[in-house]
Amino acid sequence: MIKIAVLGYGTVGSGVVEVVARNAKLLRERAGEEIYIKYILDLRDFPGDPYEDRVIHDFGTILNDPEISILCEVMGGVGAAYQFTKQALEAGKSVCTSNKELVAKHGAEFLAIAKRMRCNYMFEASVAGGIPIIRTINSALAADRVEAVTGILNGTTNFILTKMEKEGADYGEVLRQAQELGYAERNPEADVEGLDAGRKIAILADMLTGKNVAPDRVMTEGITKISTADFAYARAAGMTIKLLARCRVFEDGSVSAMVAPFMLPVEHPLGRVDDVFNGVQVTCSMLGDAMFGGQGAGKLPTASAVAADVMDCAMHPGRTVMHGWSSEEADVVDTSQTENRFFVRAKASGRKCLEESFAGCSFLPEQGGDELGLFVPAMRESDFFAKCAALGDVVLNRIRLA
Ligand code: HSE
Repeated sequence: MIKIAVLGYGTVGSGVVEVVARNAKLLRERAGEEIYIKYILDLRDFPGDPYEDRVIHDFGTILNDPEISILCEVMGGVGAAYQFTKQALEAGKSVCTSNKELVAKHGAEFLAIAKRMRCNYMFEASVAGGIPIIRTINSALAADRVEAVTGILNGTTNFILTKMEKEGADYGEVLRQAQELGYAERNPEADVEGLDAGRKIAILADMLTGKNVAPDRVMTEGITKISTADFAYARAAGMTIKLLARCRVFEDGSVSAMVAPFMLPVEHPLGRVDDVFNGVQVTCSMLGDAMFGGQGAGKLPTASAVAADVMDCAMHPGRTVMHGWSSEEADVVDTSQTENRFFVRAKASGRKCLEESFAGCSFLPEQGGDELGLFVPAMRESDFFAKCAALGDVVLNRIRLA
């Protein structure tokens, strides 16, 4: 019997308990032994819960129990979660987590301890929820070089943008729905300002470079300025708007990483990844392009990924299966020095100035409201933003083109 502990009995924690219970037979067959949840650590009590008798409040009980070989850290945050993870790994216990903030910030440190102690720090659920993208890069693509990743990595914002596009829905109302459905972070700012997707692309950039890409080196722009007027222009051009996270490794080993709303053709591989679904496009030197999609948030999809990590640990005792990355800082490129094409929505009265500023721009069919929309050819981002600033209040919004 393999005895495990779950740290945090919230949405994901209760999901892990449910996956292990519902798939108990299958897990036993595959792991060769029963997976048994011995402890659930939480500050709260859960009177009447079927697992009430396994709820404990003292982490020391788990740490000092030699029977516990695997922990699921699904409590979130970077305070107690950091301490518990470090202590568990130092004790040779494997840790499986959905905590992207912690992985993005301290992954290199934990991976080094896991390697030294011949156990595992696993984080499949931290990126793209239920989509097995970490395992794919770590194992399935182990013989290839992943040069770039572009993904829709946040379910909440994809849910919001899809509803805005398809139903002309109100931003605040859709955000509330996403929170009720358990998709959104406790602080929705992390979702809507792109920070959550930023942490996830930082983790993927870590994996692609084998070095540390600090999450605060990822340029992030959120979706709060996107309006139904932007969607009208996108629709007229056969396009849609998605919050994309992009990471690219260059020949010299430097890396760019960013999160921002992009206008992209609906027939783009990520163009019809809708609702809470996530999509990840990887470009490899041998395989070429490959697409992965699935549920990027929510209780059971996320718990399924955590439980898969538990299975990996159970099936490889005494072996470290993650390649991971070192604590050496990666050479992160300043995205303002990279080139992009842009969509601009502007006041109709500014047409002449826009034509002068953006040589070679093309105007889109008018969508009313004394406004116009145009596509601006590729230029260095810093130059583009300088021109927008010089145009003053003529420019109402601008969105990168994929
Ligand atoms: N808030 C996150 C999202 C949860 O919406 O994608 C999964 O990481």
